[in-house]
Amino acid sequence: MRSKKQIYRDAASLHIASIPSGFLPTLGLNFLSLMYRCIDEAASTVLITKYKDDQLVGFVTGSVGKSNLYRSMLSHPFVLIIALLPVVFSIKKLRKIFSILSHSSGSVRASYPAPELLTICVNSSFRGQGIADSLYVKLCNDFKSKSVNEFVIIVGKAIDANQFYIKQGAIIVGQLQVHAGADSNVFIQRIS
Ligand SMILES: CC(C)(COP(=O)(O)OP(=O)(O)OC[C@H]1O[C@@H](n2cnc3c(N)ncnc32)[C@H](O)[C@@H]1OP(=O)(O)O)[C@@H](O)C(=O)NCCC(=O)NCCS
Repeated sequence: MRSKKQIYRDAASLHIASIPSGFLPTLGLNFLSLMYRCIDEAASTVLITKYKDDQLVGFVTGSVGKSNLYRSMLSHPFVLIIALLPVVFSIKKLRKIFSILSHSSGSVRASYPAPELLTICVNSSFRGQGIADSLYVKLCNDFKSKSVNEFVIIVGKAIDANQFYIKQGAIIVGQLQVHAGADSNVFIQRIS
């Protein structure tokens, strides 16, 4: 049985391995472990995992609004400062963190529904077996239990996973840039 601390580290490691070209992995394992802890603890976000024995096979995270998540991260200031220590000397990374925060609270993001699938990852050894399908259904059920009938997915245009969301029935409703020069598709998934 994995401890909560191990689960958050497992999710962080799987995120880093699954989306190596993403920005968040550059913030390091400690930062991502704290992020997954806060996603699990905050009232507005959810972390759903699937394990096979002690191995994390996949996870999905969702949010009905991110302000609680940011508050939860700030409520662990010591861990947050230690986790971000390697980053504070990189102006480029600080600028990207700022872009994420300004995107989350900006008018473009506000023009779409607040509920969002944040990340879905399946361990590469377990792909193509319907694991992401079942995690997606669990997230939809979690949203339904919170009376949410649609949610947004923001995904880099260059990422293969766009096809996964299309297969789920999500529809592209727009495009935006979280980071300058990197276009993302905005999907909306309606929940029946
Ligand atoms: C995207 C991802 C989660 C899919 O996981 P998976 O468990 O292999 O997906 P499933 O087996 O449940 O596939 C469900 C359906 O989507 C399709 N699909 C999944 N990934 C696909 C891809 N990269 N390209 C095209 N179709 C894909 C499958 O063919 C399947 O369709 P079918 O039911 O008609 O056969 C996995 O490839 C992954 O972790 N990728 C890296 C992380 C990532 O990019 N996440 C998304 C950004 S947040």
